[in-house]
Amino acid sequence: MGNAPLNSVPRHVAVIMDGNGRWAEGRGLPRKAGHRAGAESVREAVDACLEQGIEFLTLYAFSSENWNRPQKEINALMKLLEQFLKTKGKEFHKKNVRLKTIGRTHLLPESCRKELAKVIDETSSNTKLTVILALSYGSREEITDATRCIAEKAARGELDPDQIEKETIAKHLDTSEFPDPDFLIRTSGELRLSNFLLWQLSYSEIFITEKNWPDFRKSDFHEALEIYSRRRRRFGRV
Ligand code: IPE
Ligand code: IPE
Ligand code: MG
Repeated sequence: MGNAPLNSVPRHVAVIMDGNGRWAEGRGLPRKAGHRAGAESVREAVDACLEQGIEFLTLYAFSSENWNRPQKEINALMKLLEQFLKTKGKEFHKKNVRLKTIGRTHLLPESCRKELAKVIDETSSNTKLTVILALSYGSREEITDATRCIAEKAARGELDPDQIEKETIAKHLDTSEFPDPDFLIRTSGELRLSNFLLWQLSYSEIFITEKNWPDFRKSDFHEALEIYSRRRRRFGRV
């Protein structure tokens, strides 16, 4: 096991990083401490991807629905994101990692948007791994925005409704420049997608672990990849 190269490595791994709050509550700590601990798991997931030659890693960091949490928790999460970008941005660059985002990031506080823009710009020519942060992201919101954009183009006569294909939809999603995830990992045991990449996950292999995100370390990531390598993907064929 460990870091040995696998037979079949996914090109794109997506992760629902769940269970930070439960991790903290189990230790009698504030939820914020769980989010802080979760940042270390992000670093390890990135390293695992670099070791296995994975090209894309999408991390669900803040959902559209997460805006409904208490303001205090939202503030703590935004502060952590800002700190994460300030400290990890340089590290990403050194490791030849490119940062991208999906989601309605214009809704994030100005200080976060500024740090995001900085790291995205600084890492834009990096080639080893693309880390895509899903921030203020909701799949239904994304599909709604894409539909509006397509309808506007049709109304202006730039697009013939008869010519709308699944590729047209895919091209209008936030993920247009990335391949679909091959593998979805969800931590902390919930058996749901929570509005994450509903279109893009159509044929992804799914792995759900009981471990909370702060406990999901590099060796767990490698083990999950090992499980992926034994899956048989059929795509509707026999
Ligand atoms: C995931 O952990 C992080 C975010 C959703 C921002 P949670 O905060 O959802 O932790 P649990 O699920 O309550 O344990
Ligand atoms: C999904 O986790 C969103 C992120 C990991 C950012 P949630 O904790 O928000 O999902 P639910 O509420 O359990 O479905
Ligand atoms: Mg949760």
